[in-house]
Amino acid sequence: MNDMAQAPSVPLLEVRHLSKSFGPVQALSDLSMALHPGEVVALAGDNGAGKTTLIKAISGVYKPTSGDILLDGQRVTFSSPQEARERGIETIYQDLALADNLSIGANIFLGREPMRKAMGFLPVLDRRRMAEAARETMALLDFHVKRMDAPVSNFSGGQRQAVAIGRAVYWNARVLIMDEPTAALGVPEQRKVISLIHQLKAQGRGVVFISHNLQDIFAVSDRIIVLRRGVRAGERRISETTHEEVVRLMVGG
Ligand SMILES: Nc1ncnc2c1ncn2[C@@H]1O[C@H](COP(=O)(O)OP(=O)(O)O)[C@@H](O)[C@H]1O
Ligand SMILES: [Mg+2]
Repeated sequence: MNDMAQAPSVPLLEVRHLSKSFGPVQALSDLSMALHPGEVVALAGDNGAGKTTLIKAISGVYKPTSGDILLDGQRVTFSSPQEARERGIETIYQDLALADNLSIGANIFLGREPMRKAMGFLPVLDRRRMAEAARETMALLDFHVKRMDAPVSNFSGGQRQAVAIGRAVYWNARVLIMDEPTAALGVPEQRKVISLIHQLKAQGRGVVFISHNLQDIFAVSDRIIVLRRGVRAGERRISETTHEEVVRLMVGG
């Protein structure tokens, strides 16, 4: 047997014994999980199970009540989502937080606009750099639209999802957290998002994927962690479980 193959790799992201309460409500209890490069881990569980609380604790929105978050084996604390983003953790929520009236490029740079110095004038927006970034990033995701400079309100749900993913990729996110990315989409668009997730995986990024759709979870995840009332009800390799077993874990019994 090869010793190298046995060496445990350091997870990209690790959560250890994380708890979060809101006053008397214990939203999450003693939750541990790991995410390796090139891995997709799904979080499943009924409404109120604690999925969103977990990812908000990871991404700097909530301060954990107790427990640790490690990046590359190093303990980190984030006091804002910006800090998490600077360390390569990008979160994509259902509402996507895109500016509808702006182009793909402008959305990629939203809040981080590149400025260009014009001789003798105040710095101006570097539109060319934004357009190039949009083109390159969307090509990387194998995403094609007729007009890259159109406002993103012109795009379909799946295309808008791709823009949000493209923004994370452009800023070199190593961990992408997606909360219900396929929920509001038609079937062809869901497929497109699933294929984007496969690409992120192939690029060695880590993905945490929350979904109510077991078909999507089984199509793209390596492992699934099931939460029930803030507690980890079980963890399975996707190749070693079934929809029925996951549902049983979700509802308990
Ligand atoms: N900001 C908050 N304040 C108070 N309670 C919250 C807050 N966020 C979530 N909760 C509670 O924590 C529990 C877990 O919620 P949540 O993480 O949103 O679950 P999920 O995303 O799995 O549906 C629920 O009981 C919910 O009511
Ligand atoms: Mg939620």
